Amino acid sequence: MSSTLWSVSDLHVSFPANRGKVEALQPKDPGDWLIVAGDVAERIDEIVDTLAHLRRRYSRVIWTPGNHELFARRSERFKGRERYRLLVDLLREVQVDTPEDEYPRFGEVTIAPLFTLYDYSFRPAHLSASQALEAARQARATLDDELYIAPHVNIPAWCEERVAYSRQRLATVTGPTLLVNHWPLVVEPTLRMAKPEMALWCGTTATRSFTRDFNAIGAVHGHLHMPEEMKVAGYSHLDVSLGYPFEQQRMPPRAWPYPTLRRP
Ligand SMILES: [Fe+2]
Repeated sequence: MSSTLWSVSDLHVSFPANRGKVEALQPKDPGDWLIVAGDVAERIDEIVDTLAHLRRRYSRVIWTPGNHELFARRSERFKGRERYRLLVDLLREVQVDTPEDEYPRFGEVTIAPLFTLYDYSFRPAHLSASQALEAARQARATLDDELYIAPHVNIPAWCEERVAYSRQRLATVTGPTLLVNHWPLVVEPTLRMAKPEMALWCGTTATRSFTRDFNAIGAVHGHLHMPEEMKVAGYSHLDVSLGYPFEQQRMPPRAWPYPTLRRP
């Protein structure tokens, strides 16, 4: 029997209806793998327990963080970069792959979990970043990231480092890749959002050529909660979000989790 690489993101398991869906996930074959492209939950114990549970079912689980994994109140001990490091350490203990680990290969394809964040560059060309942030505030489109991530770390600087780090590692890969990131690698999927101002928190223009530069068969992302495949310059960008329960009623019927790759 062949095994399948499945993809999901935006599990948001603090909602009981979503937790039930995640607990019901089962591989079809013992050799199946699962990509989890961020936004598992906000609490560290809930994130680790959920991924450990999935890892007991799937022979490999590949995680990359979303913005919700980074959410922290000022009173919390682990914030910003320290929070990410802690998650990587805890997930390694339960044998979940992180963006800091060697990229695994599924058949011929190297699966590359990235973590490239955003830098407010997804914005209209005539606005500076601070003007665009002000416009988003006026439109009541500001994401909670400004309350729960931005106070703890310089996000654009971290984004720039992450893009450089990802480029450096991807440059050493031979053969085809599947790029996995919480945020879309290109701006186009964000143009479908009801409030386009929200795109500020949805990625960086610095990853636009990643699919071409690194021999990608496609890219998997989440964050937008608009599950759909979009082709950009011939490359597939697939949003694999589960999304919040109230959003799921509006979503088109779809296969979930997404069967992304098969191998004999
Ligand atoms: Fe999400």
